[in-house]
Amino acid sequence: MKVTILGGGGRVGSNAAFCLQCAGIVSEIQLLDANRKLAEGEALDLVHGASSLADQRIYEGDYERARDSDIFVITAGLRRKPDESRLDLINRNVGLFSEVIGSIKAAGMKDNAIVFVVSNPVDILTHLAASFLDLPPGQVIGLGTMLDTARFRSLIASELDLAPTQVRALILGEHGDTMLPLWSSATVGGLPLTEVEGCDGNFQRGIFERTKKSGAEVISRKGGAGWAVGATMAEVIHAIALDRKQLLPVSSLQNGAYGLKDVCLSVPSMVGRSGVENHLELKLWPKEEQALKASAKALQTMLASVAS
Ligand code: 2OP
Repeated sequence: MKVTILGGGGRVGSNAAFCLQCAGIVSEIQLLDANRKLAEGEALDLVHGASSLADQRIYEGDYERARDSDIFVITAGLRRKPDESRLDLINRNVGLFSEVIGSIKAAGMKDNAIVFVVSNPVDILTHLAASFLDLPPGQVIGLGTMLDTARFRSLIASELDLAPTQVRALILGEHGDTMLPLWSSATVGGLPLTEVEGCDGNFQRGIFERTKKSGAEVISRKGGAGWAVGATMAEVIHAIALDRKQLLPVSSLQNGAYGLKDVCLSVPSMVGRSGVENHLELKLWPKEEQALKASAKALQTMLASVAS
């Protein structure tokens, strides 16, 4: 399985490459970046650690060499400023993103290639990619609320002194201000999370607010996320590479689940080798379903302003 990371010289792309190297599941990692020297440096640094980690082919390359990729991961883009919403990023990133997508298409790609969008605003850019590329919609995926879900779970575990890997709680909707938490299906070790001592209404509101602000919290301290976003990217890539059929909150073009159409956002999605293979309309609390529809509406409004 060959993965090409566009923007591979940047923090997100290189951190994701390191996560893929530590797992040793994909066989080939190409870093592609406008700053070729930086991408070469990251590739070289990764290759130097290979003898302690995994037997893979890791190198810097261009669009021509990327043609045989199984997964194109797009992390290229300008980073959000601490006081800037992800959707505010849109006008700065749409132009750059369109160039990247155009270059992938011009160079050619395999019919079964997956395009995995990470750049922000990820839901809008996933929609643009799905519209522009001649791929089945399921083959264009956005990281969506994977990172928010990871943060949500880890923060809950940290506050309630639980094992992070045992906390299962989802964030759905937009990777942005209108994201929503699912307490209805939250569990720890298979048991209802809301029954754990301390997980009351105030705790739930507080931890969700902290999750929503986590991106800005990291940006204000180190300029932008890297390790956690790389880890969640690897989770999606490995679900594809191993055809895991995992249920993940990735963003993709909706075609009817929860009554949503013509919008990209995160709902429970079955991810395997052919990308998003199915959306699962699992039962939500009424207020959760309302929040999901409100999130979709906010994204459709933003998309209309971009499209116009
Ligand atoms: C974040 O939430 C980069 O949007 C990403 O940190």
